[in-house]
Amino acid sequence: MIPLGCSAVQIASPWTPVSPPELPERNFQYCQVQYWDQRYKDAADSGPYEWFGDFASFRALLEPKLCPEDRILVLGCGNSALSYELFLGGFPRVTSVDYSPVVVAAMQARYVHVPSLHWETMDVQALDFPTDSFDVVLEKGTLDALLAGERDPWTVSPEGVHTADQVLSEVSRVLVPGGWFISMTSAAPHFRIRHYAQSRYGWSLKHTTYGSGFHFHFYVMHKGGELSVTQLALGAQILSPPSPPASPCFLQDSDNEDFLSAIHL
Ligand SMILES: C[S@@+](CC[C@H](N)C(=O)[O-])C[C@H]1O[C@@H](n2cnc3c(N)ncnc32)[C@H](O)[C@@H]1O
Repeated sequence: MIPLGCSAVQIASPWTPVSPPELPERNFQYCQVQYWDQRYKDAADSGPYEWFGDFASFRALLEPKLCPEDRILVLGCGNSALSYELFLGGFPRVTSVDYSPVVVAAMQARYVHVPSLHWETMDVQALDFPTDSFDVVLEKGTLDALLAGERDPWTVSPEGVHTADQVLSEVSRVLVPGGWFISMTSAAPHFRIRHYAQSRYGWSLKHTTYGSGFHFHFYVMHKGGELSVTQLALGAQILSPPSPPASPCFLQDSDNEDFLSAIHL
């Protein structure tokens, strides 16, 4: 299973101290809105909780992509302060969605004094926004949550491929030509590029990392750009992953066993 719960970073806040979140008994619970509703039940009275770093940790990478008048969409906002930090940083037109009505109500209450921030309960697999309605779409940890039920991170299930495709198709649809999709995650390129590198989304793809000590991944998709041949080849693997070895080979079978060539990653 893909570890999701071990990489969050809490930030200091003027609210009551953040108590350690309740971790799910099983990783697939990260895919269930009931888990998130339960986890967020005290969010209105507690401070922000940041998955995969706070705004300060990736600000230098994000800000060059933003203009003050940009319409920004934050997917799966959770209890993060990102949307508010964007407002404070001079990017006020932020719409944030999450499928947990509990956390959306908490965020509406917390930031009621900031009318330019909009909060909506919405499934990121079916965005209720018109085509070409945002200049920038951001996600931090939301695709990780949606894919947390995958049993084998190397071979994504057809359901996992479909789930990611639904989200990414929606992101591509709501982005204006020339818009940016930025994804922050713990998923390294060999796990995530294959999802993003599909020509039907109509974007280019770049990757970098951020954070000190533990590094997170920062993927930048530019709508209207093109994927490289190498990226397209990685994207094609998700539809037809390498087949497993025809028969198992055992290291003790012989001294000249070609076991390395039998590993299909
Ligand atoms: C790992 S948390 C990340 C929260 C926040 N983005 C952050 O950076 O701290 C994943 C968030 O995605 C939300 N989420 C998961 N699946 C979703 C879906 N299908 N539609 C909307 N939100 C979803 C969860 O409710 C949760 O708030």
